[in-house]
Amino acid sequence: LENQLEVHTLIDSTNDFILRKLPNQIDTGQVCIAEYQSAGRGRRGRQWVSPFGSHLYLSYYHYLEQGMSQAMGLSLLTALAISDAINELYQIDVELKWPNDVYYQGVKLAGILIDLEGQTTGECHSVIGVGLNLNMPEQAASSITQAWTDLQRHIDIAIDRNELAASIIASISKRLAEQADLGIDSMLDEWHEKDLFKDKTVKLITGEKVQHGICRGVNSSGALLFEIEGHIKPIYGGEVSLRGA
Ligand code: ATP
Ligand code: BTN
Repeated sequence: LENQLEVHTLIDSTNDFILRKLPNQIDTGQVCIAEYQSAGRGRRGRQWVSPFGSHLYLSYYHYLEQGMSQAMGLSLLTALAISDAINELYQIDVELKWPNDVYYQGVKLAGILIDLEGQTTGECHSVIGVGLNLNMPEQAASSITQAWTDLQRHIDIAIDRNELAASIIASISKRLAEQADLGIDSMLDEWHEKDLFKDKTVKLITGEKVQHGICRGVNSSGALLFEIEGHIKPIYGGEVSLRGA
């Protein structure tokens, strides 16, 4: 597989950069990486702290040939792809938190942001954004409002960012191909092995509403299986957050 790669010193958001290209033809697998993001985004417009030269900010364009139903699996397969790359290079086992986070030893290491476009015209563009903390500068740390970690503090050798980026890109390509062939069913067991909250009691937060329940993994459409009062309900991503109880 080949990926076209663009590297920028400074950009607002690598996801937005790719989204702006969309009126024109983009090849699936095109990747944009930046050293710095002035407006890095998390979900629901939250800020992703993106200091210069410290971390990995990467966006991967993918056309969903099989339609928008494929979109649900994207953050799960991307989380697995990040886990594959980190495990292969550094023999470290990360944890995955539904729907879009990668954790290590219980704190956030990386976030995934999926943007979708084209619903109104019947097209199915996806932009897969990955923000992975490598070496957090002290100054940047103070503006992050939740517990975080970075990869370098957990490994003995110096991280080679190019090697890591290449490995993540290759893993995403591989997982996307696997999804196109087999759906995400084939990945669910792997996901469950790494699930931060599997069979744990958690809080599910939807706006003002907080519900306590047990995480029972994810299903083949990528929904969280949330057990509440003895019933398992599928929860479809988007506007919800999970927290440990
Ligand atoms: P949720 O569990 O609600 O989905 P989330 O962790 O996925 O939360 P987002 O809603 O995507 O978070 O918003 C980004 C969150 O990540 C913010 O809470 C922000 O404080 C935090 N954050 C921002 N930059 C970083 C970073 N570089 N590393 C770790 N966390 C960060
Ligand atoms: C999250 O909040 O968990 C998701 C964070 C995603 C951050 C990445 S960095 C590269 C890409 N560009 C963005 O603006 N966001 C994503």
